[in-house]
Amino acid sequence: MRPPPAPQTCRGKSFGCQMTVYDGERMGELLAEQGLTAAEEGADADLVVLNTCHIREKAAEKVYSDIGRLRREDGSTPLIAVAGCVAQAEGEEIMARAPSVRMVVGPQAYHRLPEMLAEARTGKRVTDTDMPAQTKFDSLPARGRTRRAGPSAFLTVQEGCDKFCTYCVVPYTRGAETSRPFVDLVDEAQRLVAAGAKEVTLLGQNVNAWAGEDGRGRAIGLDGLIRALADMPDLQRIRYTTSHPNDMSEGLIAAHGEVAKLMPFLHLPVQSGSDRVLKAMNRSHTADGYLKLLDRVRAARPDIALSGDFIVGFPGETEAEFAETLQLIDAVGYAQAFSFKYSPRPGTPAATMAGQIAAEVMDERLQRLQAALNRDQLAFNAASVGKRCDVLVERTGRHAGQWLGKSPWLQSVHFHGDAAIGEVVAVELAEAGPNSLHARLLEPVAR
Ligand code: 5AD
Ligand code: SF4
Repeated sequence: MRPPPAPQTCRGKSFGCQMTVYDGERMGELLAEQGLTAAEEGADADLVVLNTCHIREKAAEKVYSDIGRLRREDGSTPLIAVAGCVAQAEGEEIMARAPSVRMVVGPQAYHRLPEMLAEARTGKRVTDTDMPAQTKFDSLPARGRTRRAGPSAFLTVQEGCDKFCTYCVVPYTRGAETSRPFVDLVDEAQRLVAAGAKEVTLLGQNVNAWAGEDGRGRAIGLDGLIRALADMPDLQRIRYTTSHPNDMSEGLIAAHGEVAKLMPFLHLPVQSGSDRVLKAMNRSHTADGYLKLLDRVRAARPDIALSGDFIVGFPGETEAEFAETLQLIDAVGYAQAFSFKYSPRPGTPAATMAGQIAAEVMDERLQRLQAALNRDQLAFNAASVGKRCDVLVERTGRHAGQWLGKSPWLQSVHFHGDAAIGEVVAVELAEAGPNSLHARLLEPVAR
C-alpha cells in the first residue's frame, strides 16, 4: 500500500468520562507539537483520533459506526487512530474489523502517539496497548510544557482501579491504581492557572485513593493535595471526581468543612441500595454504611450537593431489591445523578452470572429510577432559589448578552449583565428548571 501523505490537520473526538476528555486534550497538545493543526469545524481532517470509552456496550458500538462515517465520498478515509479504553480492550478486533484504522493506542500508551504516527505514515498499521509500570505521566505532559485551559480545567491525579467491581472493565482497561507525584501535580496546576484556569477538577477513577508525599516528604492523601492547591492565590475553586465510598477518609470529609475553595459537591457512586446486590457487585460497603458516611459529610458541610451513579438490572436484581435502591434515593435527596442499565462486559465476572435481567425489565426500572432522580434534582434546584452565591462564568449563552456558568453546587446558571468568561461573579438564584437556574447579577465586577 502507498504511504499516506503526511497529515497536517487533525480532529479528536472523545467519548465517555472526564478522564477520556483530559486524555484527548493531552493528545491534542502532543499532536500540535508535531506541527498538526486542528481541523476547522466541518472541514475534512487528515488525521482523526477517536478516543473511546468501553464502560458500556453502546459506547463501544459507537466507535464502529463513527469509523464507518469517516469514509469520504471518493471512498478514501483520513488516517484513523482509535485511542482509549475500547482500543485497550478490543485493539486486535478493531484492527481486524476496521481496515481503515491505522493506529490503536491504549490509555496508558498515548505518549507514544508521535512515534506511532511516524510509523503509520510509512504505511504500517500500529498497535500499542502496553501498560508500562513507568506511567505515561513521566513523559506527558512534560514539565514546563504550556497547558491550554478554559476557566474550568481537568487535572488527572490518579488513574486505574484496584476495586474490581464485578460489572466493571476499568481495572482491566486502565490497570492498577497509580497516583501521580505531588510535585508534578502542583506544577501542572500552576501551568493551568497561568493559562487562565480558575477552577481545577482533580480526576481519577478512584480519585480519593490518591496518595503521595508533599514537598517536605510527608505522606498525604487527597485532602493534603487539595489543601496545598488551595494555597495557590489565583486558583479559586477545587473539585474532584470520582470517589469510592471506602476511600472517603476523615481528612477528606473534614476538608469539606475547612477548605473554602473546595466546592460543596460530592460525586459518590453507590450503584444499588440492596446489600445483596452490593455484595454481588463486590462493592464492599453496605447501603447503610453509605448513608452513614453521607451523614458525616453533611455534618462537615451541611449544604453539600450530592451526586451518584446507579446501575439497574444487575444480574439477579429482584423487584424488591430494586425498590431498596429507590428507598436509598429517597433517603439521600441527590442534587444530580447518573443512571445506567447494566451492560455485560466481556471478561468481567458479572457477565457470566446467572439471572441476567430482560431488557424490558431494565428499561422499566431505569424509567422509574430516573423519574425519582429528576424529581430530586428539580427539588434541589428549587430549594436553591433565593440563595446568593458565586458563579464561575464559563461561556456565553444562546441568547444575546447571556452568560453561562456554574454555581458552587455544580448547577448550570445563566444570567445577563456585565461579566466576562473566567470571572467569578456574585448572583442571586432566581428561577429553577430541572437542568439549570436563572440568576440575577448582584454587583458589577471591578475590572
Ligand atoms: N454496566 C452499566 N453501568 C456500568 N458502569 C460501570 N460499568 C458498568 C456496566 N457494566 C457505571 C457505574 C460507574 C459508572 C462510571 O458507569 O455506575 O460508576
Ligand atoms: Fe469500576 Fe468499581 Fe473501580 Fe469504579 S470502583 S472504576 S465501578 S471497578
